[in-house]
Amino acid sequence: MIPSAVPREVLVRAPGKINLALTVGRPMPDGYHPLATVFQAVSLVEEVSARAADGFTLQVEGLHADRVPTDDSNLALRAARRLAEHAGVDDGVHLHVRKGVPVAGGMAGGSADAAAALLACDTLWRTGLPREELSELAGTLGADVPFALLGNTAVGRGRGDLLTPALSRGEYHWTLALQDHGLSTPEVFRTFDELLGGVDVEPEADRALLQALGSGDPDAVGAALGNDLQAAALELAPHLAETLAVAQDAGALGVVVSGSGPTVAALARSRTHAVAIAAALTAAGVSDGVLTATGPVPGARVVVGERAVTPRAGDHG
Ligand code: C5P
Repeated sequence: MIPSAVPREVLVRAPGKINLALTVGRPMPDGYHPLATVFQAVSLVEEVSARAADGFTLQVEGLHADRVPTDDSNLALRAARRLAEHAGVDDGVHLHVRKGVPVAGGMAGGSADAAAALLACDTLWRTGLPREELSELAGTLGADVPFALLGNTAVGRGRGDLLTPALSRGEYHWTLALQDHGLSTPEVFRTFDELLGGVDVEPEADRALLQALGSGDPDAVGAALGNDLQAAALELAPHLAETLAVAQDAGALGVVVSGSGPTVAALARSRTHAVAIAAALTAAGVSDGVLTATGPVPGARVVVGERAVTPRAGDHG
C-alpha cells in the first residue's frame, strides 16, 4: 500500500497533428466553421505530468515554452478544472508540461496538452471516465482536443471534433518548417471568410487521399495533400510561399500548411530524405527552425501511472 501522504504522479504523452487535407465551409451561427479534415498524429509529442496538489498550478518547459500562457487561460489547466467540475473532484493538481509541438503552429500543441491533462488527471484522481466521455469533454475544450486523445489517422467532421478512425498503411516521414511568429487560428478563419467565403456544400473528406492512405502509397498521399486555409495563412504570412517552394524543389512528395499554420509540412520519401529537405530549408533561410517527424502515432496515453514519488522539499501530500 502507498501511504496517502505520498504524492503520486502520472505522466501522459499526447501527439501533435498534421491536417493532411482540410475542407472548410461557411461559418455557422456560433462562428465555428463546419469542416472535413483528415488528421494524422505525428511523433512530436507533449508530455504532461500531473501530481496531487492543493490548488491548480502549472509549469511549462521545452520548445517555445516562453510563448505559452501559464495563467487560467492555459488549455491544460482549463482541462484539469473542467474534469474536476465534471466528475465532482475536490482535489487540485500540479501540471508539468514539456512541449515538443511548435506553439501556435497549426499542429495542435495546446490541444495535445489539454488531452494529456484530461487523461493524466483522470488517472490521478481515479475518475475513470470512459474514453467516449473523456472525448466529449475534450470537445468542449477545443475542436482538435478529441483527436489528440484518439491519435493515429482519423477523419474529423463538424468543427473537427466528430471523429471516425481511418485506415492508414505504412509510415510517413515529414519535415516541418517552423516560424517564430505564430498565426492566430481565429484570424486565419476570418481571413478565409474574407477571401473565399467558404464552400456552400457540406465539406467532405478527400476520397483520393483516404484511398492513398489505405493503400499505403506515399506518392499519392503527397499529391492529395490540401488545405482550404492555406490561402488565408499565406495572405497573413506571405513569406510562407517561399518555404513551400523550397520544400517542393527539394523533392517533397507534397507540401502543405498544417491547419491554420504557419508550420509547413513536407512529405518525404524516407527519413534520410526528410533530413535533406530540412537541410535545404535551413540553407535557404526560409524557416526559423526545422524538425522531422513520422506518423501516424497513437493518441494520448499514460506512460507512467500513479507512480509513488519520493516527496521533495516543499511537497505537500
Ligand atoms: O476550437 P478551438 O479553440 O481550437 O478553435 C479556435 C478558433 O478557431 C475558434 O474560436 C474559431 O474562431 C476557429 N475555428 C473555426 N472553426 C472550426 C475550428 C476553429 O472557426 N471548425
